[in-house]
Amino acid sequence: MTRPSAPRGTRDIVDLDVRTFRRLEGCAGACFEMYGYEEIRTPTFESADLFSRAVGDTTDIVEKEMYLFEDRGGRPLALRPEGTAGVVRAYLEHGWDQSAPVKKLWYGGPMFRAERPQAGRYREFWQIGGESFGNPSPQADAETLLLVRDILTSSGLTNGVRFLVNSIGCAVCRPAYREALKAYLTERKSDLCENCVRRLERNPLRALDCKGDGPKFTEAPLMADHLCDACRAHRDEVYSLLKATPFSFEESPRLVRGLDYYTRTVFEVTAPGQGSQDAIGAGGRYDGLVKLLGGPDTPAVGFALGVDRVARALQAQGFSAPPPKKIFIAQAGVGTSVTAFTLAQKLRTFVKSGRMPAIEIGASTKSLKAQFRAADGWGADWLVLVGEEELKKGAVVLKNLRSHSQEEIPLVEVVDRLLTSIGKTN
Ligand code: HAM
Repeated sequence: MTRPSAPRGTRDIVDLDVRTFRRLEGCAGACFEMYGYEEIRTPTFESADLFSRAVGDTTDIVEKEMYLFEDRGGRPLALRPEGTAGVVRAYLEHGWDQSAPVKKLWYGGPMFRAERPQAGRYREFWQIGGESFGNPSPQADAETLLLVRDILTSSGLTNGVRFLVNSIGCAVCRPAYREALKAYLTERKSDLCENCVRRLERNPLRALDCKGDGPKFTEAPLMADHLCDACRAHRDEVYSLLKATPFSFEESPRLVRGLDYYTRTVFEVTAPGQGSQDAIGAGGRYDGLVKLLGGPDTPAVGFALGVDRVARALQAQGFSAPPPKKIFIAQAGVGTSVTAFTLAQKLRTFVKSGRMPAIEIGASTKSLKAQFRAADGWGADWLVLVGEEELKKGAVVLKNLRSHSQEEIPLVEVVDRLLTSIGKTN
């Protein structure tokens, strides 16, 4: 029979990847707390129309990438393709728009998009993101960017990270810009891909971000030249705050985003070692979304990091988190079971701080040979053999499986000996 395999575009996160994810999640959690965010865990699926309304029904995500299904009651649902819509839904459902003038929420978890899989692009991928509600000030935009920087730096990703920032205007100034862009693109309609032609009427900005092979329209009108006074002042203040911090970023007047909810500030974070999927995170301000989903006018700004991609970037820069040291306790002979079992528990209890070793005990029903094989397969660093003959003398055999040395030592000394040796090798 063929062995089962994970669905296309998904994978098991194991070994170094798990440890890298955990490092990033740990650093992110600490940074979010420092910036006043609370954690939220929203469902992995929501009503399908939440995403089409929030993300935009002319976006790639909604047009062709959502995992849609009906529950048994026939309700249309979607696996979440991103985290912002669900957090806004929760913000409104809990009435936080009324009880908390400023609310900052962070989340982490899997997102689902039926994209064409390739290195760094998955159908199930992980994000860590934060959403800050209620603060219209440019300081909130600048703070969001600094938070992203702090998460990446504290997790160890420092080399070659670029922050690209732009303003895409607001409901006041964007319509005129859209018209100007539409006119420009209509003249070049034959250069547009099928999707962009279709979206020309409703969403011409998508052409600037088209992933097709066509021309990149580098001469197209720029939003920067169409910003209203309020948007220009907002953008200039964000840039001044960032420059004063100081924070290294690039003004990127051609940057647009693949989700429709953004207003004013948008940004993308890139890192080397990613091939074509070099965006490790993105975000921006979305002052219209809470209202669009049925709430009051509420300014908001947020971001999400692609955990899979940040992990790849960290590993490309040599990040290596060694697994914990491993101690395997083997047992053989009459009357060894209780000693072996209690020794394992004692070791686990005595491990107080620092990098904790992992402790495993061999199956008492298996031969010693089978237990040695298990210790090897598990990657044990030390093996304690609780044997019938040694135990009669109050002793056990301690084997260092790395140096292949072994000695018989008193049972009462084994905990101290192991913890001291581990302390020395960590
Ligand atoms: P996004 O740009 O769609 O924004 O995704 C954010 C990040 O998720 C990307 O920069 C990338 O690192 C990662 N990502 C996206 N798709 C994939 C994929 N198929 N495989 C691996 N990684 C992927 C959002 O999702 C917005 N909700 C961000 C936001 C929050 N804006 C405001 N608040």
